[in-house]
Amino acid sequence: MRKKIVAGNWKMNLTLAQGEQLINDILQAGLKLEEGQEVVIATPFPYLLKAKALLKNYPGFYVAAQNCHSEKSGAFTGEVAAEMLQSIGVDYVILGHSERREYFQESNEMLARKIDQALANGIKPIFCCGEPLAIRQAESQNDYVAAQLAESLYHLTAEQFSQVVIAYEPIWAIGTGLTASAAQAQDMHAFIRSQIANKFGREAALHTTILYGGSAKPGNAAELFASPDVDGGLIGGASLVAADFVSIVTKLS
Ligand code: G3P
Repeated sequence: MRKKIVAGNWKMNLTLAQGEQLINDILQAGLKLEEGQEVVIATPFPYLLKAKALLKNYPGFYVAAQNCHSEKSGAFTGEVAAEMLQSIGVDYVILGHSERREYFQESNEMLARKIDQALANGIKPIFCCGEPLAIRQAESQNDYVAAQLAESLYHLTAEQFSQVVIAYEPIWAIGTGLTASAAQAQDMHAFIRSQIANKFGREAALHTTILYGGSAKPGNAAELFASPDVDGGLIGGASLVAADFVSIVTKLS
């Protein structure tokens, strides 16, 4: 049985007071998580400690950072190391988000080193992969995503990989309102799972949580999550509205 997760990626949004209110509104909704279901909230760095404190009495609720550096420590002004995140109890870290790949030129090789740093500090990576529109239009999305997986994850042992959550986020669906169809999501998730089986074995593939991200909303989450290889979602815009985020969590099957 693999974990089912709805993760909210706040990106660069909200003040501390707004974030605290959002978390409290989510908690006030009284979500009843079933065995194996998790809610992960990825706040900006400055709010992680507060978020951790607000969630500490809520089993199944976790915090995620939205990035970490690829080095252990050093002269990297403004950066945050995985060890620092571990020291404040951060549970997950989103790595390889397309916005960071684009705006900060994060390569698959750099992400492999970020993954290593997260794992070395007991933090579970949520590894983002996904193709741009031109690749999808050329119908070469499978090769594109396969390369992202191979270049960032295939250096890991099976044991290390067992800590990794995958998030498939077609870039053309992020923030656009143009959600991938359930069939498109299922096709890619099944392909990702087959790639994992080829590299790490069938058991590893069956136990890997693969999330969908890209304009997931209350109105489409149930259909997306009903797909056999979609194990939840990585939610952007809708995670900033408590009622929407709670609604999406209730769609976990
Ligand atoms: O990381 C999740 C994010 O990229 C998806 O954003 O606004 O399309 O749900 P959104």
